[in-house]
Amino acid sequence: MHYLDNAATSWPKPEAVYTKMDSAFRHLFSPKRGTAKAARLGASQLDEARGLVASILKVKNPQRICFMGGATHALNAAILAFPLAEGDAIVMSAIEHHAVSRPIRKVSRDKGVRFHVVPYTDTNPFDLSAFEALLKSDPKIRLVATTHASNVLGSVLPIGEIGALCKKYGKTYLVDAAQTAGVLPIDVDAFNIDMIAIPGHKSLYGPPGVGALFIREGVPLQTFMEGGTGGDSGRHELPPTTPDGFEVGTIPLPQILALAEGIRWVKSTGLDAIHDAEMRLLARLLDGLKSIQKLTIYGHTNLQLKTPVVSFNVAGHAPKALGEQLFDEFGIALRAGFHCAPMAHEAVGSAPLGGTVRASIGFTTKDEDVDALLAALTKITR
Ligand code: ALA
Repeated sequence: MHYLDNAATSWPKPEAVYTKMDSAFRHLFSPKRGTAKAARLGASQLDEARGLVASILKVKNPQRICFMGGATHALNAAILAFPLAEGDAIVMSAIEHHAVSRPIRKVSRDKGVRFHVVPYTDTNPFDLSAFEALLKSDPKIRLVATTHASNVLGSVLPIGEIGALCKKYGKTYLVDAAQTAGVLPIDVDAFNIDMIAIPGHKSLYGPPGVGALFIREGVPLQTFMEGGTGGDSGRHELPPTTPDGFEVGTIPLPQILALAEGIRWVKSTGLDAIHDAEMRLLARLLDGLKSIQKLTIYGHTNLQLKTPVVSFNVAGHAPKALGEQLFDEFGIALRAGFHCAPMAHEAVGSAPLGGTVRASIGFTTKDEDVDALLAALTKITR
């Protein structure tokens, strides 16, 4: 199999991730719930894992990192439990994934909150001037939520500039780093990010079922799920503090510790080395795709402003059918359709076609994988 679906989930994982998942499941207990040594060991390793997540986001206080069930869980917490009243407004980009846009639509439906969408063009995926005009014209905007990079197009948004404008106008800024944690440098202070959601199973090379939310001190996020934290068990009310107030129930320690191994691997390999290797293959893929007849690439192809993701269509081929053909006849695994992000497809005009075929590169992708896709598309379009 030629695996080109790393934007969905990275595969394979570093061996240490599989090993840790197994050993933590067998030998460690979740902290704060028992007297066994295995629980104390679990607690100290949990602290280390929290520190590792903090380090990749440049968060100074690891206690502001809350482990959650994934980026979707974290984004739902950040949007649905943010204090908003009827008439308040949220801003999002025009290329959001459902994990951002659906909670915003739900808040809009349930609470009468309005939302604004910042205009997209291929060369300017997030129009900062239009954004600033919105911030000036609508004082009821309370929350700005954007992806760091599109899961469909790979387009990277200027989150530092967005964060600076949020700071200037006193808005809370939430970032969805599903496609960038482990790919691009992130610095919550330098970028003025108030909350950021990360998944475990993509470019941090951990397992599914775990992610995290950073909540800056002072952000008035409410708790969204009530239950036991293990500590402070005599109190009737859940403490609204991080991380305990946001980590109720028995936490998935094996997943968290396996994610920590993924982060260790990313840090020891080096973000730059990972990025350079992936971008070299993306350049190879884009070059090849440009010479295939009847093939349209969506979004811009500026490597400086892109994650290693490319979306395309071939005239006369429905994307889903082409995706299936690529796997069934050529063993190429990728994702076709709307990628849970119909807004991005509406922005680039691929929605009426049923979306796109998307290829996404990871650190284990090889030249042969890229060349296999190019050869298959050449054969199909001949
Ligand atoms: N959001 C993931 C993707 O883009 C699952 O495929």
